[in-house]
Amino acid sequence: SRAISPDFTKCGPVDLPPNAITSPYCCPTLATPFKFIDFKDYIINATYKYKNNSSIRVRRAAHLVDDEFIAKLEKGIAIMKSLPNDDPRNFIQQAKVHCAYCNGGYPQKHPFQDQKIDVHRSWLFFPFHRFYIYFFERILGTLIGDPSFALPYWNWDSIQGMQIPSYFTTPNSSLYHKLRHYKHMPPHLVDLNYDILSPKIRTQDQQISYNLAFMYKQMVLANTKELFMGSPYRLGDPAQPGPGSVELAPHNTIHDWLGAVDTPNHEDMGTFYTAARDPIFYAHHSNVDRLWELWTKLEGGRRDYRDDPNWLDSKFFFYDENLNLVRVKVRDCLDTKLLGYVYEEVDLPWLNVNP
Ligand code: C2O
Repeated sequence: SRAISPDFTKCGPVDLPPNAITSPYCCPTLATPFKFIDFKDYIINATYKYKNNSSIRVRRAAHLVDDEFIAKLEKGIAIMKSLPNDDPRNFIQQAKVHCAYCNGGYPQKHPFQDQKIDVHRSWLFFPFHRFYIYFFERILGTLIGDPSFALPYWNWDSIQGMQIPSYFTTPNSSLYHKLRHYKHMPPHLVDLNYDILSPKIRTQDQQISYNLAFMYKQMVLANTKELFMGSPYRLGDPAQPGPGSVELAPHNTIHDWLGAVDTPNHEDMGTFYTAARDPIFYAHHSNVDRLWELWTKLEGGRRDYRDDPNWLDSKFFFYDENLNLVRVKVRDCLDTKLLGYVYEEVDLPWLNVNP
């Protein structure tokens, strides 16, 4: 098999961009002797039973949640931030998981150990981030004692959702983050195709129509797996063979739009090694994950890479809420219901826009 698998025990120093503002060691703490559970066995024993409808976690649009939900989210993030630094459930440890998988912390398996793994700009983008926020969500839910807790999704593809959900910008909240673009606070509308080198000036109405037409292009017109999901990336291949439409924009562009202006690499959201230190990262990726889910169902179904064993057998490792290290395969994440969550349905104002 030529499926990608990180050599998890060989995590090493990551490649940082020039003038990085922190130089984090991104590798997780390892239990000795090294052991892990396979996701298959894990899900069968999971405390979150997916067959029972009552425990399905419903991810809701971030701008439509109530105060009770916001309080839970704030509490969960606050607890994660307060855990000991080396606890895998600690908020910064979680951010480092992203750093290690994105900035070359893991070598590929022997004999390709000179090639570092990167989960961006390839067919690994959607499944890696699906699993990543899945474990984050379970950890958060367990810490607040609510196994039905589900992450919100930042619904930036809807008109009401095209700005930062305001509760992420309240100083003193655990959801607040300092390193963000000061001009992009609500009610400023996001440019889903933001060009960091030459930002465009548009009126609100122009921005809304532009965004909807752009969503149509990235979702509906990207009608092949190569266009939407990114290029195949197999054992021995150099990293970043080619990104899919939504990964490039709005995914990357929103990262750029949100990062601070006065930091060298638009930290934190604007660069991989720090992006997941901003609590909004997880709501952003919840929406990216939702768009993957929507895309597979557009016009009666679109084909992803599920007939390619190299994609299906690609592997990652994550810590769960009980500090077990779990080895997952892409094939285990293709049905969100089996993972125990669904997305609240909202209107898709871009679906029938004809650009
Ligand atoms: Cu791994 Cu939004 O990036």
